[in-house]
Amino acid sequence: MRIVSGMRPTGKLHLGHYLGVLKNWIELQKEHECYFFVADWHALSTSYEEKLNLKKLSRELIKDWLAAGVDPKKSILFIQSHIKEHAELYVLLNMITPLGWLERNPTYKDQLSQMKHKDIHTAGFLTYPVLQAADIILYDAEAVPIGEDQRPHLEITREIVRRFHHLFSCELFKEPKELLSPTPKLLGLDGRKMSKSYGNAIFLSDSSEEVWQKLRGAKTDPQRVRKSDPGNPEVCLIYDYHKAFSDEETIQKVVEGCTSASIGCVECKKWCMASIEKVLEPMRERRAAIDDEAVEEIIASGERKAKEAASKKMNQVNKAVFEISCEVE
Ligand code: TRP
Ligand code: SF4
Repeated sequence: MRIVSGMRPTGKLHLGHYLGVLKNWIELQKEHECYFFVADWHALSTSYEEKLNLKKLSRELIKDWLAAGVDPKKSILFIQSHIKEHAELYVLLNMITPLGWLERNPTYKDQLSQMKHKDIHTAGFLTYPVLQAADIILYDAEAVPIGEDQRPHLEITREIVRRFHHLFSCELFKEPKELLSPTPKLLGLDGRKMSKSYGNAIFLSDSSEEVWQKLRGAKTDPQRVRKSDPGNPEVCLIYDYHKAFSDEETIQKVVEGCTSASIGCVECKKWCMASIEKVLEPMRERRAAIDDEAVEEIIASGERKAKEAASKKMNQVNKAVFEISCEVE
């Protein structure tokens, strides 16, 4: 299958991103033709006031991907704003997208009510799903790995495809299906959503010392005051981390040791640390081996491939729209 997915460059990635997105990408690239891109235009839809250095953030994001194991020999990695066809298709799709579809989008309504500290009453934010549709159908993606919150966007994408086909009597695009990412959200070390802005995240680029400092400070079962008090793993965040990163045997040891008070929380956290380090240590090694020049080459080579596919598609689209001529392959 051809797969397309994007990520906004808003800062360092953490373990939640790894479990929710990157792990999935790394599996998918083994079997499928994957286009993974930095959605820098999308980042502006909510952060246009923040003067982000998107050029720098985009490079850092790609470095995080490479460190995590996204393989530029298997996948095509590029930066959205380098491929102007995304914007070109976005303009055309905007012409045919009814406002009602965008205004009814539940993600739009949620974000408007949640992001009180930002003014996102902009055309760009309302039409965000149109740009996302362009990203996807420009490459004939058959499937898009996404989280739950993105489902309405994919539904809008499919509706736009059908509308385009109908209006221009030309079946140029594929209706993409969603690949819902299987892992549940990993909470941050304070029990809230894992987020850079809450300061409760373990980053993929953290050193061993940083990981341990963060784990050491994390709350455990509040009923377990002394080591001799039996604990309940089900109410403990560290146990969630064990379930996400430890093997069956360790998880079993945690449950037994915690409920019988035969292990202390520090020991339990050390095991947890070891399991997380199994994921992070190879990332540190890969990260150390990538220099800035290599990143630029990867971006340039991904860009060439993406550009080729995108411009071919836009030729067909422009024929359909401006000449009412349908050239489907
Ligand atoms: N909207 C996605 C997000 O916030 C990012 C994104 C932009 C995307 N374009 C895409 C994801 C195309 C999948 C396909 O996470
Ligand atoms: Fe949590 Fe482990 Fe302590 Fe039990 S032993 S309360 S699971 S940290």
